[in-house]
Amino acid sequence: MSPCSSIAGSLTLVRQLGALSLGAVLLLSACGKGGGGASGDSIPVGEYACLTGLTASFGTASHNGVTLVMEKANASGGVLGKKIRLITEDDQSKPGEAATAARKLISRDQVVALLGEIASSRSLEAGPIAQQSKIPMISPGSTNLKVTQIGDYIFRVCFIDPFQGEVMAKFSLNSLHKTKVAVLTDVRQDYSVGLAAAYKDYFTKHGGTVVAEQSYSSGDQDFKAQLTSIKGANPEAIFVPGYYNEVGLIARQSRELGITVPLMGGDGWDSPTLTQIGGPAIDGDYFANHFSTDDTSPIVQGFVKDYRAHFQKDPDGMAALGYDAAGVLLDAMKRAGSADPQKLRDAIAATKKYEGVTGTITINEQRNATKSAKVLTIKDGKFHYVETIAP
Ligand code: PHE
Repeated sequence: MSPCSSIAGSLTLVRQLGALSLGAVLLLSACGKGGGGASGDSIPVGEYACLTGLTASFGTASHNGVTLVMEKANASGGVLGKKIRLITEDDQSKPGEAATAARKLISRDQVVALLGEIASSRSLEAGPIAQQSKIPMISPGSTNLKVTQIGDYIFRVCFIDPFQGEVMAKFSLNSLHKTKVAVLTDVRQDYSVGLAAAYKDYFTKHGGTVVAEQSYSSGDQDFKAQLTSIKGANPEAIFVPGYYNEVGLIARQSRELGITVPLMGGDGWDSPTLTQIGGPAIDGDYFANHFSTDDTSPIVQGFVKDYRAHFQKDPDGMAALGYDAAGVLLDAMKRAGSADPQKLRDAIAATKKYEGVTGTITINEQRNATKSAKVLTIKDGKFHYVETIAP
């Protein structure tokens, strides 16, 4: 018996005992995990997403995008002659659960790669587990700078918050001609904190003044105290780099308090729930995003048509990013000619000019994708394209 097969044998025993440890998986990966995870007639790919809970809209959209890619690939014979077996874990949008999900997928299911998460705080939580286990992870939508700094197995197919913050600061100054803004940050989310910092940095270095700064925590319902204080500072616009639930409520409560200046934000606004909560109060506001259904390019319109046929609704940015993350992974698998996690890692790192529905994806030295952002506005409950801002 070779050392590898004996490890695989004892691993089976450990699993039967129901006590598989991460250490055992690490041993196996040292032996060439590609033979392990993908040795059957299918290739196990893990996905962890917030299918329920506070940001369920992100997880379900991203999951839809991922399944569309996997179903298409399997319908045309799979990859490397095998079907892709997607195994999805719901982290319920809860702190702590993303790490548990990643551990399960790696230890129990022996996935060859991970897709996830969307919210930066949860990618930051599960990323170190993927890194230690040497299982490549591709985040569809986590934009916080620190996510890919976890290590060389962690990638993303979206732009990063230092860029997104600059985009919205440029838009405030050059397109809306606002030089006095207030900033309202969700201190519970790495995403919100990082995006607020990036925005303020560019804005204040280019002639803008931040006249008020306030904060809240994910899950809060009442923002009147913060908004009253912001109103007193007389800003010309308010930057709210949060997630859609709270942003919808903030829009309503700001209008109730008689605040009429525009609100602005980032990709965390991108959900149909934003307009369901915000109603007419969010009309005329602006946010940066990865994707717009208004894009007339054939690749985007083809995706929109496919997505509508499958899910009877329009794709949002997260659906598009899930689609691209899965697409980049399968493209790398084909180029690697192998589902070995280390070879997959190298092939993902070598991704160049992959034509995605969120733009052309080249993975750079920092394992990020440099892409343009689209600024959208909201009118009558619908998102409309305003302009593209390039890096
Ligand atoms: N960028 C957000 C984060 O890092 C997540 C997100 C991505 C939200 C894309 C909407 C669309 O937390």
